[in-house]
Amino acid sequence: MSELWVERHRPRSVSEMKGQRAVVDRLSAYSESKTFPHLMFAGPPGTGKTTAALALTRDVFGDGFRNNLLEMNASDERKLESIRTKVKQFARTAPMPGTSFKVIFLDEADALTSDAQGALRRIMEQFAETCRFILSCNYSSKIVEAIQSRCAVFRFRPLDSEKVLEKVMEVANSEGVELEETAARAIADVSLGDLRKAITSLQVAASLDSHVTRDLVYETTATAPPEELHGFFLACKEDGFQPARRRMREILDRFGLAGTDLVNQLHRELGKVTFLDEPQKLKVTEAMAECDFRMVEGGGESLQLDAMAARICSMLGN
Ligand SMILES: Nc1ncnc2c1ncn2[C@@H]1O[C@H](COP(=O)(O)OP(=O)(O)OP(=O)(O)O)[C@@H](O)[C@H]1O
Ligand SMILES: [Mg+2]
Repeated sequence: MSELWVERHRPRSVSEMKGQRAVVDRLSAYSESKTFPHLMFAGPPGTGKTTAALALTRDVFGDGFRNNLLEMNASDERKLESIRTKVKQFARTAPMPGTSFKVIFLDEADALTSDAQGALRRIMEQFAETCRFILSCNYSSKIVEAIQSRCAVFRFRPLDSEKVLEKVMEVANSEGVELEETAARAIADVSLGDLRKAITSLQVAASLDSHVTRDLVYETTATAPPEELHGFFLACKEDGFQPARRRMREILDRFGLAGTDLVNQLHRELGKVTFLDEPQKLKVTEAMAECDFRMVEGGGESLQLDAMAARICSMLGN
């Protein structure tokens, strides 16, 4: 397990990226024309922002792209001065022969303080002739308007589970992992559109056993499989408090979940439960929300979970 699979299987060209159709189409046009404006990539973790930035610079500059690229992680370099000096130094030197600009990639730019963003805005203008910025962030709302208006903004979405499945199978194949079809689906389910999470889950499971089964996936990702979660709701409805509570404890122990994980997973699964009607689901949702809130505020986990189970039982019980 010397190298992380997420790194080894990171697409090297924009054309190898999965999903993100709208983004990939526009970026491919930049790859072809060998130039681009300042860019901003916004979206949830593990959906290809860093990948796209690196792949695009490689597409434009070829294999020596790193000579033309300054990579900074804004969460390490939050201070105004470090941004200013580093960017200025880099921007001052000429681009690689045969190219007309250099690229400054500011990863996790939403961690920049507003002072640093103010400085950045000047710098972006000052060096626009010779430098293009690519900013990546999870929340575009944390980037000041003035910077956004200087960039072409790209929104990355959680990947469809079919795309996640495709990539996970490719990685499994090339790593020689025997991945059962149901296990691959489970990985796609637990990753919620985050490809980094999906590939990491595969690597963790495969490190325990090169034959990866559905059970192994759920056990190594701290996720309860859907049937267990449905079983809890059903027990609340049909068997009453003590059996429901026992099921809940079993799920917590077996899959190693924290209380808030359990509530979140129950919440995600509730929509798919067929034996409850709409008004029942509304009430159950409220009970879960309340429990989650109390736990986050510091309420004792075991008592709060029991209270939630009790409320759900009394709502659903006959
Ligand atoms: N669209 C994609 N196509 C193919 N692989 C992807 C894609 N998105 C993510 N990956 C895989 O997941 C890994 C992590 O992706 P990446 O570093 O691009 O995420 P990110 O969007 O920058 O996330 P963060 O917001 O956490 O920085 C990559 O190394 C790659 O293996
Ligand atoms: Mg990233």
